[in-house]
Amino acid sequence: MTEYFRAIGDYDVQMAGPQHVEGARSVMLDTFYREFGYGYQPGWHWDVVDLDGVYLRSPRHALFVATRGDEVVGTTAVRAAAPKSPPHPRELVERYPADTTAQLFRVYVRREHRRHGLARAMVEMARRFVAATPGYRAIYLHTDTRIDGAEPFWRSVATEVHDARNDDPTRYQTVHFEIPIPAGDGDLTAQRPVLQAVPMA
Ligand SMILES: CC(C)(COP(=O)(O)OP(=O)(O)OC[C@H]1O[C@@H](n2cnc3c(N)ncnc32)[C@H](O)[C@@H]1OP(=O)(O)O)[C@@H](O)C(=O)NCCC(=O)NCCS
Repeated sequence: MTEYFRAIGDYDVQMAGPQHVEGARSVMLDTFYREFGYGYQPGWHWDVVDLDGVYLRSPRHALFVATRGDEVVGTTAVRAAAPKSPPHPRELVERYPADTTAQLFRVYVRREHRRHGLARAMVEMARRFVAATPGYRAIYLHTDTRIDGAEPFWRSVATEVHDARNDDPTRYQTVHFEIPIPAGDGDLTAQRPVLQAVPMA
């Protein structure tokens, strides 16, 4: 087995190969339509059209999947990208520049396969990938805390660096997080980070 493979009960968590691309895209599109409610948005979701080109063919990017048999049930993507400003604060872009920031995207698990530790295992694998890939200095992500499971999940594996919520339930309620890059092969829970909140102007 490769370095990026782990069995969890009936599931396997692994780095995606070409055979996983179609199933991964299906998990992502179903999440946009059924969980987020706004469906595919070309401006935000362009990577989903070419998962192979964006994640499988770029050495600094990766896609991880959770599978049961031949079915892809969960996804996690890593690519070199800064947060976008606007809408996000300029200070975050300065702290997380594109060339040295591994941003996590598409951390989705189909509803019927949740709470088996699949997202945690995919994120841990992504973290090990980032640690083994030269040039990255931080792992960053942001999430809309209105989405079911998103906030408790990220609080269990990452540290908040900026809370942009404004209590308006009709708008994105975004919280920004960082996950420390392990020096060795440490596990996710063993190294809870000590990070400073991002000071805003
Ligand atoms: C967020 C999400 C990816 C979590 O996937 P998952 O495989 O169920 O997560 P895990 O089983 O690895 O959970 C790890 C820990 O996170 C926390 N957690 C995850 N989901 C939770 C929930 N709904 N409520 C409370 N805590 C939760 C728990 O501490 C859990 O550990 P435990 O089960 O031992 O208590 C999944 O709920 C999802 O796809 N949500 C919709 C899409 C989304 O919002 N993605 C994240 C933002 S991009």
